[in-house]
Amino acid sequence: MTLLHVTGARPNFPKAAPVIAALADLGERQRLVHTGQHYDDRMSEVFFRELDLPRPDVNLGVGSGSHAEQTAAILVGLEQEMLATRPAMVIVYGDVNSTLAAAIAASKLGIPVAHVEAGLRSFDMSMPEEVNRIVTDRLSDLLLCTSPDAIAHLAHEGAPADRIHLVGNPMIDTLLANLDRMDAERARASFGLPDDYLVATLHRPGNVDDPESAGELVALLHSAAARADIVLPLHPRGRAILEALGLDDHPRVHVVEPLGYLEFMSLVRGSRAVITDSGGVQEETTVLGVPCLTLRPNTERPVTITHGTNRLATHATLLPLLDAALSEEVVTTRRPPLWDGHAGARIAEVVVDWLAEHPRS
Ligand code: UD1
Ligand code: UDP
Repeated sequence: MTLLHVTGARPNFPKAAPVIAALADLGERQRLVHTGQHYDDRMSEVFFRELDLPRPDVNLGVGSGSHAEQTAAILVGLEQEMLATRPAMVIVYGDVNSTLAAAIAASKLGIPVAHVEAGLRSFDMSMPEEVNRIVTDRLSDLLLCTSPDAIAHLAHEGAPADRIHLVGNPMIDTLLANLDRMDAERARASFGLPDDYLVATLHRPGNVDDPESAGELVALLHSAAARADIVLPLHPRGRAILEALGLDDHPRVHVVEPLGYLEFMSLVRGSRAVITDSGGVQEETTVLGVPCLTLRPNTERPVTITHGTNRLATHATLLPLLDAALSEEVVTTRRPPLWDGHAGARIAEVVVDWLAEHPRS
């Protein structure tokens, strides 16, 4: 009996690592598929070097493309993999195209699906991730939630209560397990940054695909750099457009390649504030107590606002919110329930119990 994990994009790797490790501790046989959605060394391989992740058993190598091209290629590759290995369950993570394709491929073959990070909703159907979340949840036999709001959304959508489990946040397991390896001072020095600096990451289509919006963002980031140096590990999605718009034409803007997990989290840990549109970074800053300004009109992670340091920002509010964050001496946060470093173990237990209760005929 084999459990199949499907990963493919950067945010999947820190979420899958603690789940795979916890299931290994329980003696489960597992396979790991990498779809190849992300493929640059710094978007993929670096996580396998740095985190407690086994090598993928197979890499489908799908690469980039339109949503249809990418999702279809993953579907075809995963169907072959699942027909060949007949896993007892497929475990999927987050809200990327690899997640959606894996849930569809498995459910069409009658293979149970467990969704880690189920029930998050931005209620913004213009985000591809929202479509992926809703469809994946509808197809999942186990809905493994990181926060109570997710449970409420799933219940409201009619998901059976016995499928839903509050398990905590495996992304935070990885963060807490690696805290000792995050040397903020060394990372700061290696980038030649002063004591007070900001970190920024931007990759949402709504921020970086449209030249007009991207141009406004560049101007805003230059104004932010007048307050403090900014280091920007740029996701490949927006790199060409942001650079063409002159993002790094400012002496205090430091544009760098995407960073490995440890270097990135070290920089975040030591920063005065973060400007981002990332899902994971909203969660990590909540736990680290670093002010986070999220350049989005909504978030599917409201606990990072109610419990953490996160604030939604528009082009109009970013600089005043940044000034407020920089003047804050003590940042107080409450960790969301069960963001305690043990989500992977809880997920493993729920999965193993479910399999025992649903023996394969
Ligand atoms: C994907 C996810 C998004 C997630 C993000 C995390 C979907 C629909 N989107 O967005 O939810 O927040 O990953 O990082 O699944 N590229 C490279 N090298 C790579 C990967 C991508 O150069 O290793 C470039 C390609 O030009 C590609 C573009 O980035 O076309 C976008 O990649 P894609 O995987 O389609 O979406 P992301 O924007 O990365
Ligand atoms: N991350 C990293 N290096 C970077 C940027 C991000 O290691 O340069 C890590 C970080 O832990 C973050 C995760 O990758 O939470 C996922 O990031 P991303 O913003 O790509 O995805 P999202 O969470 O928005 O889907």
